[in-house]
Amino acid sequence: MTNTHILVHTFDYLEPTSLEETISLLAEYGDRARVLAGGTDLVVQMKMERLAPRYLVSLRHVPGLAGISVDEVGVRIGARTSIRAIRRDPRVQALYPALAEACASFSTTQVQVMGTVGGNLCNGSPASDTAPPLIAFDAEVVIAGPDGERRLPLESFFLGPGKTALQPGELLTAVVLPRPRPNTGSVFYKVSRVAADLAKVNGAIVVIRDGDRVADARLVFGSVAPTPFRARKAEAVLVGQVLSDDLVAEAARVASEEVSPIDDVRSTAWYRREIVRVLTIDGLNEAWRRAGEWKGSEEAGRQEARSGEQGAGSKEQGKRVAADGRCEITLKVNGETHRLWVAPNELLLNVLRERLHLTGSKYGCGIGECGACTVMIDGKLALSCLVLAVAADGSEILTVEGLAEPDGQLDPLQEAFIEHGAFQCGFCTPGMLITAKGLLKEVPKPTEQDVRDYLKGNLCRCTGYASIVRAVLDCAAK
Ligand code: FES
Ligand code: FES
Repeated sequence: MTNTHILVHTFDYLEPTSLEETISLLAEYGDRARVLAGGTDLVVQMKMERLAPRYLVSLRHVPGLAGISVDEVGVRIGARTSIRAIRRDPRVQALYPALAEACASFSTTQVQVMGTVGGNLCNGSPASDTAPPLIAFDAEVVIAGPDGERRLPLESFFLGPGKTALQPGELLTAVVLPRPRPNTGSVFYKVSRVAADLAKVNGAIVVIRDGDRVADARLVFGSVAPTPFRARKAEAVLVGQVLSDDLVAEAARVASEEVSPIDDVRSTAWYRREIVRVLTIDGLNEAWRRAGEWKGSEEAGRQEARSGEQGAGSKEQGKRVAADGRCEITLKVNGETHRLWVAPNELLLNVLRERLHLTGSKYGCGIGECGACTVMIDGKLALSCLVLAVAADGSEILTVEGLAEPDGQLDPLQEAFIEHGAFQCGFCTPGMLITAKGLLKEVPKPTEQDVRDYLKGNLCRCTGYASIVRAVLDCAAK
């Protein structure tokens, strides 16, 4: 049995400051190196002892890999752009609604903030949430390598479960999408056991309308084949035809027959086929309706400024590294600066709890599933059980201990939790408070649905959710 409290294996932690340096490190170390971006999958795999890379190559200080830019040709999304940034980008919402919806349904809020689109694609998972809409919009991936840059359709990037077309020494740097044609409608649906789980089946449907006829269609499903699957036979049923209930039903029947799902822990093959049939019917009708209300270009035209999320600037100087491999880092925690020597495999949660004695942040699952360890790093939510302390060097960190004023005056959220009795044993409360703080920063006047969606990654074993939601709403109202 693995111990997810710590990272057993150690490694060399490398922080290149340019794309060229990154490629050169990846080319030199080949299979012994892994790229670290958001870490939400890689660190979990390492904690579960499924992966033990000798070198971790962090993209933290490589410029130009994060951010969304739009021009008349289409959209370019840097590989290190977070899922959350894509979800919230108004230009993505206007031009590629299915992609924004896929990002909204992606795991938990914390994982959306930490996880990146490049990481999600490079996992090569057939259940990827971002792959179906990106393939449906004819996305290409941009890959940098020792021999320069190459592009290929995203659909060909996936070779099998966990396998992609990336060669040793190559790095996925961006995803580019052509601008949709006028009268395009799109939608993303996902069926999963619980909100934050991987999909039993997900699907993106894109249709282009020409009056009553289907000018073009893309139907792409996840978790129904070894790679994200484009249902070309069903598309062929639709293209050039006048849309009708019978046509939609026939396309849905064909789609459910051409996928090749398996039975596994999340679902059965039979049920997956049935979901594909139903998703196709619902998705085609909704995408068709949206295509009739097309205003993508006009909406996106109002938002030509670049996305707020940019790549980190390059680092000014390297870390000090001791003979035993430990690195010297600086953390500003709740306003207080700490200089520490940490091993590359030390996790931020352990440093906070065991070295700085800030035990408010809790160790729950250790693999990013409960939210008990949530802190803010440079103003963004982060699961400290999945963050290497060395990768937080130079950051400002807020833990639950930093919520109250220095004079002891509690934060309004803390007051609201007390007023509404929003805790029982209190184990989940620090993570709930920090996550709710993130919510009110992002959405100052949330609806109940906003609160429930934002907090879906914070589990309460005492199941006091109703009072927690009431406390957050009350605090926002005040
Ligand atoms: S302990 Fe970090 S998410 Fe559960
Ligand atoms: S109050 Fe006990 S875990 Fe939430």
